[in-house]
Amino acid sequence: MAVPTVKLSSGYDMPMVGLGTFDLKPDSTAAAAVSASLQAGYRHFDTAWIYNTEATVGNTLNQKIRDGDVTREELFVTTKLFMTCADRVAEAARESLDDLGLTYIDLYLIHWPMAMTVTGDVRGSIGQPVAEIMKQLKPSDRDYVDTWRDMEKLVDEGLVRSIGVSNFNVQQLSRLLNTPGLRYRPVCNQIEIHPYHTNGELVECCHRTGVVPVSFSTLGRGGNYSDSRGTMTLLQDPVLTSLATKYDKTAAQVILRWCIQMNVAVIPKSSNPDRIRQNMQLFDFQLSGPDMAAISALNQNRRVWDISLWKDFPNFPDSPSTSI
Ligand code: A2P
Repeated sequence: MAVPTVKLSSGYDMPMVGLGTFDLKPDSTAAAAVSASLQAGYRHFDTAWIYNTEATVGNTLNQKIRDGDVTREELFVTTKLFMTCADRVAEAARESLDDLGLTYIDLYLIHWPMAMTVTGDVRGSIGQPVAEIMKQLKPSDRDYVDTWRDMEKLVDEGLVRSIGVSNFNVQQLSRLLNTPGLRYRPVCNQIEIHPYHTNGELVECCHRTGVVPVSFSTLGRGGNYSDSRGTMTLLQDPVLTSLATKYDKTAAQVILRWCIQMNVAVIPKSSNPDRIRQNMQLFDFQLSGPDMAAISALNQNRRVWDISLWKDFPNFPDSPSTSI
């Protein structure tokens, strides 16, 4: 069965389920995950310059195209402009295109509203403790609206089909939508959405303005995450496990389906072929209205990404109440 798609404001269709590739090792693990996903029916792949998985994703997809398993037109590839590249958009996009081995990117996102300068090899540091990476990043006052104007040029040049944002808050998204003279609207906002961080106001703002919300960390990073509040075991939440039993699905499938029914696209990451298949089997059941509400009521405004290290940077997107 073809994966349901959502029509973006650019006119292109985006599959509602994609494979997230953050945290996949840029080696045979990532290649195997992309292959297993294609076989399971995925056509949407989400990467980012900073994930260091663009080359593996691109190589694997290109091999499958050469093998005749899939065509480029069937695929939807998202990648993201990192904060340290905010003032060199054209160069960064070409680097991503080269890494991906593609002639165009389906969807290119501003990864964060904050711009930064870097003193070291930030991409090469991925995998190291966040605090170590953070030391290399310094704030920059580059305005995301100026970055957006450069993103628009990529569409004009045919290098990118749709442009969007990630991690923008309500005010930032509204400002971008309402700035006079901008020629393309952000088609999506990729943000942290899961039952413990429902992000309701922002999701509602996206829907009201025709911006597709895309959830990252939908499964709470595998449902087992620790922070200053203790261990967060999302996938073991009793409400979710009892709904999983009721619908004869897994807690992960219940969460992903909850997103889909809210018209929120999902990009769960997995390197496990069984879980990759499982995360696509979301279209043969329907959560009832009360069950949808029960999942939304689990909200704790609790992120799995502690971004408070950036709280003093210009355009930090979280209010103090939603950051840890
Ligand atoms: P694995 O790669 O071993 O499957 P998120 O997208 O929220 O960041 O979650 C990614 C994490 O969730 C990964 O650690 C992944 O581990 C795990 N994961 C992905 N799909 C499932 C699933 N269906 N059930 C349980 N864990 C999952």
